[in-house]
Amino acid sequence: MTVVVTPAEELATTVATAVAAWLTDGGDLGLAGGGTPGPTYEVLRNQQLPWGRIDLWLSDERWVPLDHPDSNGGMAKRLLADHVPARFHPVEYGPDPAAAATAYAATLDTFMQRSDAGLSPTVVLLGLGDDGHTASLFPGSDALSIEDSDFAATWVVEKNAWRLTATRPLLARAGRLAFIVSGAAKAGVVAEIIEGDASYPAALVADAGNVTWFLDEGAASSLAGHVPR
Ligand code: 6PG
Repeated sequence: MTVVVTPAEELATTVATAVAAWLTDGGDLGLAGGGTPGPTYEVLRNQQLPWGRIDLWLSDERWVPLDHPDSNGGMAKRLLADHVPARFHPVEYGPDPAAAATAYAATLDTFMQRSDAGLSPTVVLLGLGDDGHTASLFPGSDALSIEDSDFAATWVVEKNAWRLTATRPLLARAGRLAFIVSGAAKAGVVAEIIEGDASYPAALVADAGNVTWFLDEGAASSLAGHVPR
């Protein structure tokens, strides 16, 4: 595990620079949803990458059409996919979230490397909720125990809504996992996870050697030994 702490105004550039270095040979990039990664996508789209050899996909999606304001795919399209010649794979919205999750797993299988263990993403970007959720793997969710599929539909009680999410096995097989976390409101959960509390959903995927935490000063402020700049 690597922890990178930057001033808030440098977080997006720091993450985009690292992702660009990880994708110099192409591959696939799983995109985080929510509000944090947007500035990173705006920087990343101007990076010199082999975009023609890159597939963009979503580590999770709200159960809404692509043009809905809450859609992670819509956000990623607006801020990144519309600006680069990469192949973009939004989740297909339809009447049945479980069928859509199964279909999306099949879509991932059309471009993602497959090891003996299964589909293995090149790089996945993830956010973190203040309850320790990541992607749409929320505390107590039945999706946390899924081991036999790569993408799943899950009813999220906290959101009173369906979500589609990469599962723990898929995320754990990523070559690189990068958490992007901003703001002091998440400092406590960040410190608990990094300092070993395995009870949070994010910890389920964050215990692998391939994980980098990109934190701004606020998100890092509760880390043991952290000296604010
Ligand atoms: C989503 C995300 C979710 C997000 C965290 C953090 O669909 O909302 O995938 O896991 O990354 O909730 O959200 P913020 O970046 O908005 O704080």
